[in-house]
Amino acid sequence: MGSKTLINLLLLLLITGAHSEVTFNFENRCTYTVWLAASPSIGDADPESGSGTLELFSMPDQWSGSIWARTNCAYNVSYFSCETGDCGSGTIDCQSPPPTYPVTLLNFDIKQSVVSYEVSLNHGHNLPVRIQPEGGSLLGGTGLCPVVDCIEDVSNVCPGNLVATNKDGRYVGCYSACDGLKDPRYCCTGNYSSPQACQSNEYSQKFKQLCKLAHTYPRDNDPPVYRCSRATSYNITFCPS
Ligand SMILES: *[C@@H]1O[C@H](CO)[C@@H](O)[C@H](O)[C@H]1NC(C)=O
Ligand SMILES: *[C@@H]1O[C@H](CO)[C@@H](O)[C@H](O)[C@H]1NC(C)=O
Ligand SMILES: *[C@@H]1O[C@H](CO)[C@@H](O)[C@H](O)[C@H]1NC(C)=O
Repeated sequence: MGSKTLINLLLLLLITGAHSEVTFNFENRCTYTVWLAASPSIGDADPESGSGTLELFSMPDQWSGSIWARTNCAYNVSYFSCETGDCGSGTIDCQSPPPTYPVTLLNFDIKQSVVSYEVSLNHGHNLPVRIQPEGGSLLGGTGLCPVVDCIEDVSNVCPGNLVATNKDGRYVGCYSACDGLKDPRYCCTGNYSSPQACQSNEYSQKFKQLCKLAHTYPRDNDPPVYRCSRATSYNITFCPS
C-alpha cells in the first residue's frame, strides 16, 4: 500500500464519518489513471486513482446509485472534464447529473449489510470492470455471493455506428443501442416499455456474447441482480485481467 493510498484511506474515513458495515476496495489495474465517480456523490475528496493503486472506501449505511471510472480527465484552467464518464459539472467530484455516455456502470443498493449489485452496459462500455464480494451469502439463493464482471475487450465487437471516439478519432468506448440510436425499441420506452416488448436485440446480444454476467438492455435479468448479505467488503477492480 503506497503512502498516497494510506492518506486516501485516512481522509475517506474522516469524511464518511457515519459507521458503515460495507467497505469497497477500489483497485485500478488499468495501465492508465482513472478518476472514480459516483452518483449520488459519496464525497470522495480525491477520486484520482493511478495505475496500480488500491483505495479503501467505507460506504454509507444506505446508498443506492452508480459508480464508474472516468478516463483521460484534466482541468482546462478551472473546468474539469474527462474523455469518458464525464459528469458535466466541471468539478472533480461529480455533482449528481448522469455522466456522459458511454460508460460501464456499477450499480449498487446498500441497505446496511445487504447489498444488491450489478454491472450494467445499459449506457455502453468504457472500460473492463469486476465486482467481487468477499464473504457473505447470497439472499434468495444458496452459497456464496457471485462475481459479476465485464472484462473483455468490447472494442472488438462494437458496431461501427456505436463507436465513441475522442477528438483525435481514437476509440474510447461503445455506446449502448439506446444511447447511440435513440430508438424506443432499444431503450424500452413508449410502445416498448412492457416486459413482453422489451427484449434483447442484435446490439445487446453482442455485448452479452462477451459479458454474460453483465446486464445489456433495460430489462435484462439474466443473471438476476444479486443480493448479498454480510459480505465484509466488495473488491471493485478496473481492468481486472
Ligand atoms: C474549458 O472547457 C469548457 C467545457 O468544455 C469550455 O466551455 C471552456 O470554454 C473551456 N475553457 C478554456 C479556457 O478552454
Ligand atoms: C405505438 O403503437 C401505436 C399502435 O400500434 C401506434 O399508433 C403509435 O404510433 C406507436 N407509437 C410510437 C411512438 O411508435
Ligand atoms: C480483495 O482485495 C484484497 C486487497 O487487494 C485482496 O487481499 C483479496 O484477496 C481480494 N479478495 C478477493 C476475493 O479477491
